[in-house]
Amino acid sequence: MNPTSTSQLNKPFTLPCGVTIPNRIVKSAMSENNADADGRPSNRIIKLYETWGKGGAGILISGNVMMDSKALGEEHNVVIEDEKYLPELTRWATECQKNGSHLWMQINHPGRQAPKFNEEVVSPSNVQLPVMKGLFKEPRPLEESEILDIIEGFGRTALVAKKAGWKGVQIHGAHGYLVSQFLSTRTNLRTDKWGGSLENRARFAIEIYRNIREKVGPEFPIGIKINSADFQRGAFSEEESLEVIKMLANEGMDLIEVSGGTYEKAAMMGRKMKESTRKREAYFADFIVKARKQTESPLLLTGGFRSAKVMATAIKNNELDFVGIARPFAVNPFLAKELLQGKITKIQAGKVDTGIGFIDNMGFMDTAWHAENMKTMGKGKMPNPKLSPMKVFLKFAWEHM
Ligand SMILES: Cc1cc2nc3c(=O)[nH]c(=O)nc-3n(C[C@H](O)[C@H](O)[C@H](O)COP(=O)(O)O)c2cc1C
Repeated sequence: MNPTSTSQLNKPFTLPCGVTIPNRIVKSAMSENNADADGRPSNRIIKLYETWGKGGAGILISGNVMMDSKALGEEHNVVIEDEKYLPELTRWATECQKNGSHLWMQINHPGRQAPKFNEEVVSPSNVQLPVMKGLFKEPRPLEESEILDIIEGFGRTALVAKKAGWKGVQIHGAHGYLVSQFLSTRTNLRTDKWGGSLENRARFAIEIYRNIREKVGPEFPIGIKINSADFQRGAFSEEESLEVIKMLANEGMDLIEVSGGTYEKAAMMGRKMKESTRKREAYFADFIVKARKQTESPLLLTGGFRSAKVMATAIKNNELDFVGIARPFAVNPFLAKELLQGKITKIQAGKVDTGIGFIDNMGFMDTAWHAENMKTMGKGKMPNPKLSPMKVFLKFAWEHM
């Protein structure tokens, strides 16, 4: 590989809070959906992170951890509301961080994207997800006291992560979950101080940041994942996202990860992308250049990165500071090390299709296939890049339908 590529990727980076990350590769969040009963972190999840911990990434961001047991995104999410699972979380952090990677917890509340098995579903307003109506019910608008409880809950979960030895937290503010529902005028119809102007809609994200910061102190990394846009008419737009990034940067956010899309439009996975995007590799490459013009705060871009040269060039051109990679880590847990050492220059990313149009168009195969390989790693085995998508579909159908 071109030595400048490896040198760009290997450069340590110091976040505003003072913590230095050993290199520029981040494993972005992928929901493990593999917890034990009541959201307890399982030995399988800890095993998966022990393996990833040997893989050389600067930061490993966990799959979304739910901060409220009454609001799950999936049936087997990890749930951290208090210190009940401190021993498991401590073991997770210890096993994972033995080789120098930093483990961060992604904290989430799904809002209206909480499936029907949740007794009650809440959101800023009662706007039901217009797709997959069989799976998601109409949400109840949150009372102001409940909004304040959720903000406090994010802070509480972050503090538990810190006590357990995790080296950072990330607020999930993207992909149409609760924080992102507050940001969009399609899902936030409120007329109080939590809705209306962009400043009001961003208040929820900002108050969560402030609550966490107050609890964890000035030297602990806090990041957020945010949409470049929701990619729907009338929803959170690029212009609004750029403004919110500025607001978050002014608060002192340590790392802003850019993604995009919601359950209605899965832009984060790059499905049905334009030819021009395909050529540029990273799905939100144009946006990150605009974001960099707004802020010097550390930026992480995720979605589509597959070659060392594209990653290194973006860092060299000061468009971003970290590259986020998700799905390929479910196929090769050691890919960061291999990229950093110059052993590979391109990540081989398989197409996860059954070849049967109606199944592949449902859009969940990509997630289900990669999740299956993460489960294999949780058993202490290596993932199978040749895993049959049809086999995964049949298993998924058997379990869910
Ligand atoms: C199995 C799976 C689970 C995911 N779970 C999460 C999640 O919990 N939180 C999140 O922010 N993104 C999640 N994502 C999205 C990824 O973080 C990432 O944005 C997306 O896969 C695009 O990056 P990639 O092209 O490098 O895979 C998930 C993706 C997959 C495949």
